[in-house]
Amino acid sequence: MRTKSIEQSLKDTDEPEYRLKKSLTALDLTVFGIGVVIGAGIFTLTGRAAGTMAGPSIVLSFVLSGLCCAFAALCYAEFASTVPVSGSAYTFSYASLGELIAWIIGWDLMLELLVGAGTVAQGWSQYAELLIHQLGGDGFSEHIGPFHWLAALLVFGLCVLITVGIKESLRVNMALVALKIFIVLFVIIAGLFFIQAANYSPFIPPSQPGEQVAGLTQPLIQALLGMQPSAFGVFGIFSGAALVFFAYIGFDVVATTAEEARNPQRDLPIGIIASLIICTILYCAVCLVITGMVRYDKIDPDAALAQAFETVGKGWMATIISAGAVAGLMTVVLTLLTGASRVVFAMSRDHLLPPRLSALHPSFKTPYRVIAIIGVVGILIAGFVPEDWLAEMVNIGTLTAFILVSIGVVVLRRTRPDLPRAFRVPGVPAVPIVSALICFYLTINLSIETWIRFVVWMAVGFLVYFGYSRTRSRLATGADLHSAPEAVDQERS
Ligand code: ALA
Repeated sequence: MRTKSIEQSLKDTDEPEYRLKKSLTALDLTVFGIGVVIGAGIFTLTGRAAGTMAGPSIVLSFVLSGLCCAFAALCYAEFASTVPVSGSAYTFSYASLGELIAWIIGWDLMLELLVGAGTVAQGWSQYAELLIHQLGGDGFSEHIGPFHWLAALLVFGLCVLITVGIKESLRVNMALVALKIFIVLFVIIAGLFFIQAANYSPFIPPSQPGEQVAGLTQPLIQALLGMQPSAFGVFGIFSGAALVFFAYIGFDVVATTAEEARNPQRDLPIGIIASLIICTILYCAVCLVITGMVRYDKIDPDAALAQAFETVGKGWMATIISAGAVAGLMTVVLTLLTGASRVVFAMSRDHLLPPRLSALHPSFKTPYRVIAIIGVVGILIAGFVPEDWLAEMVNIGTLTAFILVSIGVVVLRRTRPDLPRAFRVPGVPAVPIVSALICFYLTINLSIETWIRFVVWMAVGFLVYFGYSRTRSRLATGADLHSAPEAVDQERS
């Protein structure tokens, strides 16, 4: 239950060996947020969720998920504006909820960021393959046997970019984000001309007995009422929301860069909330256009956006969209990997993970050892793990972190009312509590397999914590940043 004081967290970031460059502005942060949010979720999962879960009412799933994120975003913004240090929710919770909860959040964030990066890298490589085929390159394959070589290569290349420095990678990011927003707007505006009102009815497809939607609540309630399991219907909207939640993941990653922001108190809340609002509007518009262009039962579960344009006979537009997806998904992987490296960096600086990891590169000033490890694990995930069970894993890890952050806001208001808060959540404690409840509700709409995998992941986390971190933590040993890590001395010499 020991907590790390906010003052200590802030002091750590001033130590020269660990100090990251403070160069990011509010615009950088918003771009960073959009760069990670718009990705595989809208480009691929929309089709799957509309085609198998919600039909045209998928737009309501996006509204529901967006609402959940809006509540969580307010809580994140308050936390980030109070505790502007690297590591996101992990650091915030270390200051408010204690080391064990902080560990759990850090462990969840690794699931979100690293597994998320691997998942999106696989989606990227599939779009890249599609694009090459659309351009006439038959016979090209993004995998060799079970190994997604192209996805693994992407993770490798991006890790090199991150090592060279965040400002540089942000510049690349900025150009790619602009292209991605252009493509999404292109889908919306070009698609408007092909909408047929008949495709919107039925707006909420009637539930179809026999086909079971992933999710715990629906089978439970139906069993209680003696109903047959079914797909679609009102429950389909909730299952869809739990799946498309993936599309929103990432606005919280903005908070992981707090230490590199020039004016974190003001700019972090702007970055988090602005990126979320922009993405929600774009997503709802894309959903309305796609389900208006193609009847929900004809929507392609893999490449819904490109396929909708092929359906209406506009192959060249489909090619542009695939090209946009290739550029767009690349920035998502880049940002998720950056976020992952920041979280591991912060945990290592607190000695919950081996301290020598967090040493900065002498000239690039980036935590190159952390990035190397993230790269190797990321390559293995992107290369070998089957993608279909990854997105939901990422969702459950992220939702759990959101729940803990929401509770953390209430706790920190009680324990440290004195701290300056550049941004305050309105209606505490009601808003954070509602936030935690909506997040929890979404988790119980995920499949039972996801829950089992998540429990296993958490069990491994507890083994590491109690086997390694608990006794070596800087809070346990009283070590300061300089006395313990041999690596720092080596670095100096
Ligand atoms: N929100 C990100 C995506 O949709 C993770 O790919």
